Amino acid sequence: MTFVYNLVVVTHLLGMAAVVGGYVASQPRVSELMVWGARAQLVTGVVLVGMAESIDSLGKDPNMPKIITKLVIAVLVAAFAEMGRADAKRGKALPWMTHAAGGLAILNVFVAALWH
Ligand code: HEM
Repeated sequence: MTFVYNLVVVTHLLGMAAVVGGYVASQPRVSELMVWGARAQLVTGVVLVGMAESIDSLGKDPNMPKIITKLVIAVLVAAFAEMGRADAKRGKALPWMTHAAGGLAILNVFVAALWH
């Protein structure tokens, strides 16, 4: 099960690369890659927490205040990315929305790595 869990961690890191890399490459517009990365972070993050909480042999003890903080930030990232993408498709890009999504995604990398 550890292997499966670690595979989900890999998809979580690839999702992070998509949302942050997509932001850097496409700003001031929101790209499709950014939106899919933001969606992937929500799904893979929730799967990681579900597995960590329910499978004792993984030996994980998620830090809930940290997880809730990441979840709130990730929901905002996805919301700004979805709205920004919808606007970009109609040809009216709002740069602040792109920067809000990308900046909050980068903030979540700091929360992930520095809060222990
Ligand atoms: C934009 C959204 C997100 C970004 C950029 C992000 C980024 C990261 C990064 C870089 C790591 C690896 C950190 C390390 O190993 O020290 C990580 C781990 C993790 N993330 Fe996220 N994350 C996001 C959203 C979420 C969400 C929504 C959840 C859960 C609700 C979540 C749950 C986790 C968990 C449980 C781990 C630990 C994996 C492990 O090493 O066992 N993440 N995240």
